[in-house]
Amino acid sequence: MTKQEELWRGEFGDAYTERNTLDEDHLAALTANWARIMHCLQGRPPRSILEAGANIGLNMRALRRLTGAELLAVEPNASARSRLARDGVTEAEKVVDGLCNAIPLPDGAAEFVFTSGVMIHIHPDDLLASCRELHRVSARYLACLEYFSDQPMEIRYRGHDEALFKRDFGGFWLDNFPDLQLLDYGFAWRRVTGLDNLTWWVFEKTS
Ligand SMILES: C[S@@+](CC[C@H](N)C(=O)[O-])C[C@H]1O[C@@H](n2cnc3c(N)ncnc32)[C@H](O)[C@@H]1O
Repeated sequence: MTKQEELWRGEFGDAYTERNTLDEDHLAALTANWARIMHCLQGRPPRSILEAGANIGLNMRALRRLTGAELLAVEPNASARSRLARDGVTEAEKVVDGLCNAIPLPDGAAEFVFTSGVMIHIHPDDLLASCRELHRVSARYLACLEYFSDQPMEIRYRGHDEALFKRDFGGFWLDNFPDLQLLDYGFAWRRVTGLDNLTWWVFEKTS
């Protein structure tokens, strides 16, 4: 097990899940941001959406307000998976144990596959394998919402080394997957949106 997997499957991940509260203002902010992100898919919305690293499903709860698409979640932390199922964010069988680099789902399992605040927690050595797996399970669209840095860098996170890495994740997707076409990108500026200064990209597979 990698250091990162150990952290998120263990007490560190349990504590994050415990801290992650449901707050109506935050859900409203997420919903507004997702409406903005999904705008580029107008007229051809996904019928299924998979979030890898969903935690308690804040994004999924926001997306549920915008779409009737089937929702699936991959999440390595057991307490977060229980919460997803217990709160009925989606059906229990659609919440699966896994990691971005090991998703127990078939090729093209969902039309829209995304991460939010998850690629930043993947060690750079595991990033390409994780993207390959996300790409494999996407039938059409891929998206990520992550912390941006022009140059790859590591930041100490909650007292841990090798737990948070920033880079140009959009560039990483485009450089490694030539079949992807950029549909849109943007920035959720905390001052205006209340969200966590996330940069987001939406891609479509062209082959
Ligand atoms: C910072 S939280 C983000 C949660 C959620 N995506 C959101 O935006 O609110 C990171 C989540 O990703 C999960 N995670 C960590 N490493 C992962 C990996 N390699 N693959 C999939 N999920 C991962 C963690 O267990 C945690 O639930």
